[in-house]
Amino acid sequence: MDLGLAGKSAIVTGAGSGIGAAIAARLAGEGAKVVVSDIDLASAEAQAEVIRAAGGAAIGVRADVVDADEVAAMVDRAAEEFGGADILVNNAGLARDMRITRMEEADWDVVLDVILKGAFLCTKAVLPLMTGRKWGRIVNMSSRAHLGNPGQANYSAAKAGLIGFTKAMALENGRNFITCNAVAPGMIDTPFVRGHPQFDKISENAIRTTPVPRIGLPEDVADAVAFLVSDRASYITGDVLHVTGGRY
Ligand SMILES: NC(=O)c1ccc[n+]([C@@H]2O[C@H](COP(=O)([O-])OP(=O)(O)OC[C@H]3O[C@@H](n4cnc5c(N)ncnc54)[C@H](O)[C@@H]3O)[C@@H](O)[C@H]2O)c1
Repeated sequence: MDLGLAGKSAIVTGAGSGIGAAIAARLAGEGAKVVVSDIDLASAEAQAEVIRAAGGAAIGVRADVVDADEVAAMVDRAAEEFGGADILVNNAGLARDMRITRMEEADWDVVLDVILKGAFLCTKAVLPLMTGRKWGRIVNMSSRAHLGNPGQANYSAAKAGLIGFTKAMALENGRNFITCNAVAPGMIDTPFVRGHPQFDKISENAIRTTPVPRIGLPEDVADAVAFLVSDRASYITGDVLHVTGGRY
């Protein structure tokens, strides 16, 4: 299936690691020119180099998604280097897991800021470029946690909020042929989950309760994103694609 991504300019946030890195590689493999953006410049540049070594087009850019000036500079780089920003994947995210009785205001704020405000700032920054071309694709990285996970009140709220944001963006921007969808992964094998102190217990439980009995891979999510940002998904917007092996 030709995804029609050759020559498109894409920005993937949080792309120095894990799911974002796999998405950047997948889009570049389809011929897109990718801005590999991350708050950690070294990881962004390393992933861009991996993509270039495989024959793709990519640059590494540092941007903290909660800083409007850095986000604006990231979009400017996409326009200068690759002629625009046709695709945005709001993937940057983090977690501060704990029961609400122990959760501090700062734990709430940082998770809501990076996931929700980050998506807001990046989306606002790319929309003028997409609107000008009457073509655009935005994918927001939600999570199965949008259904609610114990120990993840902040993260669950942010990922559910991101779905509301996705639907609002779909309604506002459809007239310009800009689609906005969310992807909701289950447990995916990345540094993000590997770093959890109870990784073994959590992964064992996930495999036991998942109809497809394995942990997901970053490439599973990247395939879903590649479809949603493609020409093959031009009539799908405001939707949530779960990549969970059937676990809810
Ligand atoms: N791994 C999973 O099981 C899983 C499941 C569902 C959803 N997700 C979501 O997928 C996304 C990627 O997760 P991952 O597992 O690849 O994690 P990861 O920790 O491997 O990668 C996240 C990346 O985001 C970057 N980042 C963090 N804060 C940032 C900021 N303020 N600005 C820019 N970049 C920032 C990090 O530097 C890192 O490179 C996140 O939004 C996460 O919530 C992950």
